Amino acid sequence: VGEDLLEGPRLYRDTGKMLAYSEPNWQAAAGSGLIDLYVKNSPSGVLVDGEHEFVNMSSYSYLGLNRHPKVVQGAIDALEQEKITGLGITPTRMQPALMREVQEQFSRLFRAQCFIAISCSVATAGLLPLVSSGALIDGKPRVTVFDKRAHFCMDLVKPICADEAPVFTSPHNDMNFLEDMCKKYSRVAYIADGAYSMGGVADLDALMELQDRYGLFLWFDDSHGISVMGEEGEGFVKSTLPELNPLTLITGSLEKGFGCSGGIVMLGREDKHSLINTFAGPMCWSQSMSVANLGSLRACIDIHDSPELGRLQERLKRNISYFDQRIPTSLRGSTLPVRALVVGETSLAVELSNSLLYEGFYSAPVYYPVTSRGREGLRIMIRADHHRNDLDRFCDLLEKYVLPHV
Ligand SMILES: Cc1ncc(COP(=O)(O)O)c(C=O)c1O
Repeated sequence: VGEDLLEGPRLYRDTGKMLAYSEPNWQAAAGSGLIDLYVKNSPSGVLVDGEHEFVNMSSYSYLGLNRHPKVVQGAIDALEQEKITGLGITPTRMQPALMREVQEQFSRLFRAQCFIAISCSVATAGLLPLVSSGALIDGKPRVTVFDKRAHFCMDLVKPICADEAPVFTSPHNDMNFLEDMCKKYSRVAYIADGAYSMGGVADLDALMELQDRYGLFLWFDDSHGISVMGEEGEGFVKSTLPELNPLTLITGSLEKGFGCSGGIVMLGREDKHSLINTFAGPMCWSQSMSVANLGSLRACIDIHDSPELGRLQERLKRNISYFDQRIPTSLRGSTLPVRALVVGETSLAVELSNSLLYEGFYSAPVYYPVTSRGREGLRIMIRADHHRNDLDRFCDLLEKYVLPHV
């Protein structure tokens, strides 16, 4: 068989090209000790890597809930209650009763039909093909339009969706492109982030208008909005849409603001339990949510249901606004905690990140494939549990090392 016959059409992914463009970037970061770190946590939240100690300025546990004593204790309590790590049987057949309890608590808290999965990526791999095929909606396939900047966990599923329905990629937040698609095809689904991992948000007003006019299905990954926004931490999208209709679905990772592990799916009222329990691919295979994590989720839901959430959100806002006063970025003023300092070159981003690490702060260098080429820099994530004196010193260091290159 000829070599050319061994190649696929590569319509939706090209691993060789991705490796060629990104491998030198990862190697540069590895050479400076900026990836592949194994650290220990200390009670103050400072991380320890051998002889180095540093504050993590690139953690997406925005409210610091990953080290909240009640959330840690929640895992211990659940394990002590259940005396088992998990049931060792496919979740389709059997799950810990605690899973149903937690799912029901989420549904009440976020005022939507909520399902949880072991990660947002697993929920996405399970459900996105059911959107393109129509199985989750009305049984009819839908042209599926991915925003160019939709997170990798959605991009990864493109070839599978393309086996069910035509797939297109739209320029970022391009509502004219999307409207043209809606005019051309009778059933369209749009796949995007709600709050983007490099900052910025979806144009919710315009999207809801397109939904009204053309019956557009909307899929939002709101991983970076959950816990940070909304009175109950329901996120950027859900706090804007009081009731989810049958044409809107939200996913999110619980590893970010929520400070636990797992992923969440929010749907409207129509009962989708039996479809999801049997046809959502990797949501139905061997892994159930671990008992320990269910315990943490339960404790964390209690925090979201109490005035403490508002206090943590407030503390986060104060830290963000302090950072914004000191360091100008294009995202200044955004309530979301991600800030990018663009220096435009991988080697410079790596060098600056290295200098900051040497001074006691980890701020991740970002480059292709995380950013487009030419947008390399540092990604900074502000948290509620950053101490003001650490933030202050970090801003001094950014002024000294980074701002001259931005
Ligand atoms: C927007 C977005 N969605 C999904 C994910 C992945 O979430 P998970 O690790 O729960 O699959 C991430 C983080 O990598 C993300 O930034």
